[in-house]
Amino acid sequence: MTTLTPVLSDNWDQINAWQLASYQRTGGYDALRTALAMQPADVVATVKDSGLRGRGGAGFPTGMKWSFIPQDNPKPKYLVVNADESEPGTCKDIPLMMASPHTLVEGVIIASYAIRASAAFIYVRGEVLHVIRRLQQAVQEAKDAGYIGQNILGTGYDLDVIVHAGAGAYICGEETALLDSLEGRRGQPRLRPPFPAVAGLYGCPTVINNVESIASVPVIIKNGADWFGSMGTEKSKGMTLYSLSGHVTRPGQYEAPLGITLRELLDMAGGVREGHQLKFWTPGGSSTPLLTAEHLDVPLDYEGVGAVGSMLGTKALQIFDETTCVVRAVLRWTEFYKHESCGKCTPCREGTWWLVQILERLEAGKGSEEDLETLLDLSENILGRSFCALGDGATSPITSSIQYFKDEYLAHFEHGGCPLDPMASTVFA
Ligand code: NAI
Ligand code: SF4
Repeated sequence: MTTLTPVLSDNWDQINAWQLASYQRTGGYDALRTALAMQPADVVATVKDSGLRGRGGAGFPTGMKWSFIPQDNPKPKYLVVNADESEPGTCKDIPLMMASPHTLVEGVIIASYAIRASAAFIYVRGEVLHVIRRLQQAVQEAKDAGYIGQNILGTGYDLDVIVHAGAGAYICGEETALLDSLEGRRGQPRLRPPFPAVAGLYGCPTVINNVESIASVPVIIKNGADWFGSMGTEKSKGMTLYSLSGHVTRPGQYEAPLGITLRELLDMAGGVREGHQLKFWTPGGSSTPLLTAEHLDVPLDYEGVGAVGSMLGTKALQIFDETTCVVRAVLRWTEFYKHESCGKCTPCREGTWWLVQILERLEAGKGSEEDLETLLDLSENILGRSFCALGDGATSPITSSIQYFKDEYLAHFEHGGCPLDPMASTVFA
């Protein structure tokens, strides 16, 4: 059994952990004092040296992103926190914000100081009203305590922090669509480059970071870059939050170093539900190619998961046992992508519609082997030809499920329906 020292989730079970008084009792805002006594460039250097990589899915080095902000540019600089967690199966930022919103708020102030931002925005998905309220309360408490506002802790640094609710579109988690939405427009991705670091919110230099990335900053400042780098693997450093869902005994958030394996995480979570076996799983939500039981010992870091043809993504481990029809699961995800496609580019807008049509036919047992070729051909034409990552992500469950479960697809039209149906004779294990 793996033993772990929680870091980000350390205070989650404290009484009223979301309130300022409780947060401060466990050393909250000490890191802010330390950071404000440093030069902004030194804060950037510390985060760079720690090896922290973006926890939103892409794993881009956080400190490097901060260092791209041109300090000779006279325009205002902004920090935007992407709290629009929407990737299917992903549930780590919302629990973090509910349990300890001040960890995020403290990280926001430190990061804003490091890039010399005058305003920071926390963009939260609109459906999670309870999270919005909790963040608003935390920001107000931090303002009242003098951590946000004019002349923070007497240092002469001014910062405003605004909690902004989106309207519940998956695409608004794409960083440039998020910026359009924040500016009051319909959220659709912008062409990159220029990256937001150069021309972001209102055309000004902007850092956009995921909630967990920013929430990791206070402990890095408090304990140092070397401490953070001592956890994880050579290229994927630190501890992180994994969310386990589906057919697992104890679903939830598990904090562990990068590089842990699914086998070890399942040990902590009580294993696959009793009497069943693992059939397939996603390492980072449905936008990352599926893996199977043969990948139980793959290190869950950017390199390890990449080496087996998938991606770490949001570390949303969705566990499916042998009772799940893979074709039905893939159809369900593809319907989601079709629904959430913003319609800006043809490969994704038209392609996801066609993918659903074919998958519906296959799932109903009315398809043919030729349909599998068409699915792969369509996926090949969407991948790399879409304007943003949504189109690419939509192809991941399809191509990977055909790679590992082609027989189950074929069995659907041989049986005239799902072979896992109680009335069917064949059951896939
Ligand atoms: P990306 O790799 O294009 O960019 C990652 C970050 O690095 C961005 O902030 C980008 O601005 C920055 N960046 C990259 N190259 C740069 C450069 N040359 N100069 C300055 N900045 C640069 O990835 P993208 O498209 O932003 O995100 C895709 C990821 O999002 C996927 O891996 C997926 O796992 C994840 N995702 C997460 C969701 C969630 O709910 N958390 C939902 C959907 C997808
Ligand atoms: Fe919109 Fe899909 Fe194109 Fe992204 S890939 S811009 S979501 S249509």
